[in-house]
Parts: sequence; structure tokens; C-alpha cells
Amino acid sequence: MKILGRRKSGEGSEPQPTTEKKTAAVAEQLRQKGWYEFQLERSGQQCFIDPNQQPIGAGGAAEIIMGYIPTQQRWVAIKVPKSLIYPELYAEEIRLHLKALEATPDLVVEIVDFIINETTSKIAADHEKMVVMELLDPAWAPTLKQRITETHPAYSWSEPRPEPEPLTPIEVSQITGDLARFVITQYRQKNLIHRDLKPTNIYIIRDTNAQRTLTKVGDFGSASDAEVDDSDPLVGTINYLSPRQVLAAQAGYDTTQEPAPDAGLYDESWRVGVIAYEMLSGRVMFARANPQQEARAIHDFAYEDGLQIKDYPTLVKNLMKMNVKPEPVFEAFNRFMFLKHPEYHGDVTRFAKELELALTGQLEPEAADQSSVTSGD
Ligand SMILES: Nc1ncnc2c1ncn2[C@@H]1O[C@H](COP(=O)(O)OP(=O)(O)O)[C@@H](O)[C@H]1O
Ligand SMILES: [Mg+2]
Repeated sequence: MKILGRRKSGEGSEPQPTTEKKTAAVAEQLRQKGWYEFQLERSGQQCFIDPNQQPIGAGGAAEIIMGYIPTQQRWVAIKVPKSLIYPELYAEEIRLHLKALEATPDLVVEIVDFIINETTSKIAADHEKMVVMELLDPAWAPTLKQRITETHPAYSWSEPRPEPEPLTPIEVSQITGDLARFVITQYRQKNLIHRDLKPTNIYIIRDTNAQRTLTKVGDFGSASDAEVDDSDPLVGTINYLSPRQVLAAQAGYDTTQEPAPDAGLYDESWRVGVIAYEMLSGRVMFARANPQQEARAIHDFAYEDGLQIKDYPTLVKNLMKMNVKPEPVFEAFNRFMFLKHPEYHGDVTRFAKELELALTGQLEPEAADQSSVTSGD
């Protein structure tokens, strides 16, 4: 895969081995510099880590650091859990990540290898192993969040990045379609739900060969493949909870009740709608001052209000700027997410198709002239 903006080997101050001898020389160089050395579980090769680096990313549960594998001439990303009080949770995350890769390898962050036990104690307390992933450099593979907000943190190890460009209607259609395929395939083939789908856990890759945007899902730290998903409905981030989860939370998670069939799939599908809204408007759909108000907003949207053109002037304005007619887009969201207008409520595949139609149908010329809408949603 040829990728825009990716460094060519030999550029900058990077190691540039081409032969076995050179590989050994690079390894020796890194050793001299005081980089930590680990043996990889699968390949048996060495992976080097600069102990003085700043993490390249962090979430609630882990920090992501960089490593270099001289034999493969490859930079990688290593997920180091912040707390190892529950090493079995990290092992579970790895198991589910591997499982997800089986069902949709093109839509999941690649696992390159693992760093094994004895050696990991240098950078993390004792536990089984740590996952070594493909490095998704924000220059060519930002998270969807970075892509939406167009803010790219500057890392010293990367060449000047290409100018970020706003998502196009075609890209939003493709990403929504990819997420729909991820959700449905994982659920049908692996009984797997990710449970924390949101823009910071999704990567958007510019691939010059494919002439399109590629989507990859990462962070399986909240995922589940339990036969019945009877887990705490508040796993995940509140803005991306489904109205069903909000109601379950309000009802105090009545454990005597049978969970609704396909409840996990419904929740997961809903999140694709929330993410699609964020891609189009640049705003988190249910962001409010506090979690209570966020839960209320989700509930009211689903059961009372839906998406009304008059209430979402920023979204309307963005759509007009993209030369997209707003009404069909609003209808696509409402048919999917608004319970009073539930033509295909929860059917994420259908939603992705309807949204694509709405986004790629051209705006009629006279409507384009009337784009004087004020912002404020
Ligand atoms: N393979 C990767 N390459 C580059 N950056 C990554 C990679 N994986 C994660 N990150 C960065 O680290 C952040 C946290 O990673 P994530 O796996 O979501 O951890 P957490 O479980 O703590 O949320 C991501 O939002 C992203 O910015
Ligand atoms: Mg995360």
C-alpha cells in the first residue's frame, strides 16, 4: 500500500538498513544510545524503544509509545496500559482485537507482534504481553477526531505533514459505510461489539493507490463477545451511548430483565449515526454541560425531537458549503435515529446507503443561492 505523506526510508535521521549487516549496525547504534531492547514473541526479532520519548497518544486506560524493528525497517506503536491492576483485562483486549482482525482485517488496526513477559517489566509492571501495532502516523493516518477538528499534534519524528483537508461528502459516505460494515460483520460473524466506537478510536488513512479513504478501528479495551451482552450499559463514553442504554441507566440496570435481543448491535449501530453527525457538523452530537444533560439530550432526541432543520443551523450551513441539499440528509438521520419516524430504525446498513445517496445527490442551483443561515447549534 502506497501512502501519501509517509516517510521514505533513508530520509531524515532515521536508521536505514538494507542488509543484514546494516540491520545489526543499526541495532548496535540504538543499543549505544540506551534504547531498550525487547524480543518479539511471534517473529523473534528485536524491537527497540527509546525510554526518554513522549507517548504519541493516550486514552483513559493506556499510553501509546513508539518502537523500531530494525529487521523490518519499521516503526511500530506499542500500547502500554497505565495500570496493571487488572492484567487479565488487557489480555482480554488483545484477544478481542485479534478476533476482530479475523472478521474484517481491512477495517481494524493491524497487530504486528507482541512484547513478551520478562522483558516488559522495564517499561511496565509484570504482566503477560503487550501489543505491538502498525504505527498510524497522524501525518497520513490521523484519528477521525484529529481529522474532524483538523488539529494535528506536532511530533518531532515526522516530516512536515500534508495540509489537513475537511472531510468531503464522499469521504463521510465511505467512512459511514465502512463503520456500518464493521459493526454488522463483527456482530454477525464474531458476536463482537466494540462498545466504544468514537472518533478517537477510529483512524482515517489516505491511500493513493486505492484513491479513497480507508477506515480502521482500534482500541478493543471495552469490547465484548459475550453470548448475551448483560454488561454495564455505561461502558463507553456518554455522548455515544444509545437511548436504550440511557433508559437502562435511568431504570437502574434491572438485572431481572432479559436484555433485548440484539441490544448490543442496536447500541453499536446508533453510534455510527452519532459519528456521522460529528463528521458533517464538526460537533459532538450530544455534547452538553454535564453527563446528566447529555443523557437527557440523547433521550429527548430519540423520543421527542429528532433532527429539525431549524435547530441545527451549523449542520445546514456546512452541508450547503459542501453543495449538499440538507433535507435528505436530515431525513436519513431521522429515519435511522428518531423513534417517531422509524422507517429503518437501527438498520445501520440502510442508514449508510441513505446517507450516501443524500450526500452525493447534487444540490439544485437555486437552493445553493439561499445559503444565508446563521450558526448556533
Ligand atoms: N497504532 C497507533 N498508531 C498511532 N497512534 C495510536 C495508535 N494506537 C493509538 N494511538 C493514539 O493513542 C490514543 C489512545 O489509544 P487507544 O488504543 O484508544 O487507548 P485507550 O484504550 O487508552 O483509549 C489514540 O486515540 C491515538 O491518538
Ligand atoms: Mg481509546
